Amino acid sequence: MSKTFTREEVARHASENDLWVIIDTDVYDLSNFVDLHPGGAFPILELAGKDATTDFYGLHRQEVLVKYKRYKIGSIAGEKAQFSIPQPGELSKVPYAESSAFSGFKSPYYKESHFQFRTEVRKIMAELAEEFRELDQTDGKPSDELMQKLGETGLLACNVGPGPHLKGINIPAGVKPEEFDYFHEMIVHEEFARVVPRGVDDGVIGGFVIAIPTVLNFAKPHIREKHARDILLGKKRICLAITEPYTGSDVSRIRTTAKLSADGSHYIVNGVKKWITSGRYAQFFSTAVRTDKGLSMLLIERGEGVETKAIRTSYSPSAGTAYVTFDNVKVPVENLLGVENQGFKVVLSNFNHERLVMLMGASAAGRLAVEECLKWANQRKVFGKRLIDQPVIRNKLANMISQVEAFHNWLENLTFQMNHMNYAEQSEKLAGPIALAKYQATRMLHNVSDDACQIFGGRGITKTGMGRYVEMMQRTYKFSAILGGSEEIMADLGVRQAMKHFPKEARL
Ligand SMILES: Cc1cc2nc3c(=O)[nH]c(=O)nc-3n(C[C@H](O)[C@H](O)[C@H](O)COP(=O)(O)OP(=O)(O)OC[C@H]3O[C@@H](n4cnc5c(N)ncnc54)[C@H](O)[C@@H]3O)c2cc1C
Ligand code: HEM
Repeated sequence: MSKTFTREEVARHASENDLWVIIDTDVYDLSNFVDLHPGGAFPILELAGKDATTDFYGLHRQEVLVKYKRYKIGSIAGEKAQFSIPQPGELSKVPYAESSAFSGFKSPYYKESHFQFRTEVRKIMAELAEEFRELDQTDGKPSDELMQKLGETGLLACNVGPGPHLKGINIPAGVKPEEFDYFHEMIVHEEFARVVPRGVDDGVIGGFVIAIPTVLNFAKPHIREKHARDILLGKKRICLAITEPYTGSDVSRIRTTAKLSADGSHYIVNGVKKWITSGRYAQFFSTAVRTDKGLSMLLIERGEGVETKAIRTSYSPSAGTAYVTFDNVKVPVENLLGVENQGFKVVLSNFNHERLVMLMGASAAGRLAVEECLKWANQRKVFGKRLIDQPVIRNKLANMISQVEAFHNWLENLTFQMNHMNYAEQSEKLAGPIALAKYQATRMLHNVSDDACQIFGGRGITKTGMGRYVEMMQRTYKFSAILGGSEEIMADLGVRQAMKHFPKEARL
């Protein structure tokens, strides 16, 4: 049992070398920390021996107490804590912080296994949260150990959605591969978005999740068997290399060439690729190349002639964003993905899923901003009142909540369609709505991020401390508006798809 003290006892420890404070009902001995304190010694010295709860929560995130729990020496006898630190796996009780099914409302979409699955995934992610944050702050490479841990927990494979690749994978909460559906997948992306800063997330799963389907669905069986499992278990890394300095949105104009060797045993690849997510870390590059009569996809293994250089973007270098050069790279013909000159089919085949992944992450990102703002507006006092007591702030929150909820409801409908359509029907019916939803998602993020930043004030543009999530969101939400099909292209695609089904007989 932890030690207990009276408030009078704590008050006797009020000097620089013997300095205790009370936060809520916990007692901290900060004697050895006061000179190391990032906020300087002065603010702590002023509160030596006293109750520092209000000042502490005005300036720090609760996670600071978890990180520095080593300074806690006990608690105040007979007092009940006002604030609780969430237990790993626990759902938030803040209104709108969880989607409605997970905050007590009825829903036709989720079964018991989804609830259990979320709890388990949240626990796993809580264990890794500090490591993800550190990576973002140090711009580090996601380590092999981290990737393998995600592989062992089954979470890498779950990021790819339902399918035969889940056979033999340990899925959290004992979900069977055949039970795993797109709502389980949604939960995985939401839980990642809650914990993993955007750039780190792309370095860990962003490149992988858009590239591995090309191997699972189009590699020759022996190539798939040789590599897919290692990639799904985090032992090897893969990225998708399509974009070039010359061409982004217009994939048909890529210039990287693959020429068949005289004996027909391999291709010789030459060209450059730009902005390749996790390209700096990858052993495999699923690469769009120009062959004899069209576009083809090749699985290129890192080796002689492959060079990757870092590209610095506005998010964390942990994303491993790379400029990739192929200089006379020899690639065995067996590494062709799909059929020669029919690479477009491979490129297009995963677009719906790639975009769905982004929608799920975007929805959770918007929702987390709502939670952060509700908490902050409730605890920040300005002009003698809480921010939430100002009608203008409540109006901003109303905008944020309604946009997140409206978007999420559309997303759940699309996810339900994914669950109940076969691949052909998904391709036929969902490309347009998913593109429009992606357009809507990034407009929603734009508005939510803007309001959140205003609510946090200076902290919303400061990388550490209370506003760190909102600052990161403000700096990175645009990535979703450009990657995986830019906003303009998505909007246009959505309307063009709708016009394909426009009835000839319809007139005003
Ligand atoms: C950080 C980062 C990571 C990335 N990761 C990868 C990756 O892993 N693999 C990969 O292959 N690629 C990757 N990309 C590339 C990304 O997919 C492209 O940036 C995207 O396709 C847009 O291409 P672009 O930037 O060349 O813009 P452009 O095609 O030059 O377009 C510029 C702007 O014009 C608009 N526009 C273009 N055409 C039209 C039109 N017809 N009508 C109206 N507006 C139009 C676009 O919407 C865009 O806003 C990444 C990019 C970034 C920045
Ligand atoms: C357990 C006790 C404490 C710990 C572990 C701690 C830790 C930290 C840390 C890590 C930061 C960096 C910012 C962040 O990550 O949020 C910080 C900032 C700061 N702390 Fe503390 N702190 C403690 C108690 C206090 C107390 C009692 C005060 C008194 C008011 C205080 C005042 C400040 C100030 C003024 C800042 C700068 C905040 C800013 O600029 O926004 N801290 N503290």
